[in-house]
Amino acid sequence: MSAAIIDGKALANSIKQNLSERIQHLKANHITPALTVILVGDDPASAVYVNSKHNTFTSLGLKSEVLRFPAEITQEQLLTEIRKLNQQKDLHGILVQLPLPKHIDTNTVIDTIAPEKDVDGFHVSNAGSLMTGNPRFIPCTPYGVMKMLEAQKVNLRGAEAVIVGASNIVGKPMALLLQKEGATVTICNSKTRDLAAHTKRADILVVATGRAEMITGDMIKPGAVVIDVGINRMADGKLKGDVEFSSASEVASAITPVPGGVGPMTIVMLLVNTIESAERSLK
Ligand code: GUN
Repeated sequence: MSAAIIDGKALANSIKQNLSERIQHLKANHITPALTVILVGDDPASAVYVNSKHNTFTSLGLKSEVLRFPAEITQEQLLTEIRKLNQQKDLHGILVQLPLPKHIDTNTVIDTIAPEKDVDGFHVSNAGSLMTGNPRFIPCTPYGVMKMLEAQKVNLRGAEAVIVGASNIVGKPMALLLQKEGATVTICNSKTRDLAAHTKRADILVVATGRAEMITGDMIKPGAVVIDVGINRMADGKLKGDVEFSSASEVASAITPVPGGVGPMTIVMLLVNTIESAERSLK
């Protein structure tokens, strides 16, 4: 079997085009959706993601600002910056790029962002509202994955969904979203015994571990839909996913490529969340 390729770039572009009417409507009401991204330190991967978000926003005529701070910034200084942004009128989204340096407590930082501007959906109150089924902002990566499954017309009701990776950013919110659509969800983590026994049962397999090519074709159920969230830069500069594409695409019915799969969808869902936040200021 040779899997269909789920083209995240094309889907992201079509969602982007459909947003233009909403952007025009906001502009007619003198509102330009605005995002501020905080980048701490000089992690090269984070810098690439932040630039990519910034370019996407500005290319659509939205406001985007990047505040860069040295890795040595104190937690208190960072919290002060966030509190200033919380007060800023005409700012609809605040995003702190992760990971943060080790001396800074990520949860404290995230929970200082005003929940109504937390377009990542990571604030504890937004995580809670997702869990109880009435989300304010859905975290961008799992939100993008749900859009891909929808576009692919994957039937989630009663399906076995297995998620490899239990992060707050991807794995846990992904599980809630799949469960809400009627899937039976298993979340595997780095301590899972016999990982392959779980992954081989999956009708839908979502992999978000940050370990290049750790899932191989022999770990996949024939006909499964495989979503690869990983983006790993190899020594030769090439990008690889958490799934070994060559062997997996022989077994799966559909699979996301890396790059050009989940990555572009994450950015477009950040646009969606920021526009949604700006629209709430109309009400
Ligand atoms: N680092 C990796 N993914 C993300 C994300 O979706 N949001 C933020 N803020 N940081 C990240």
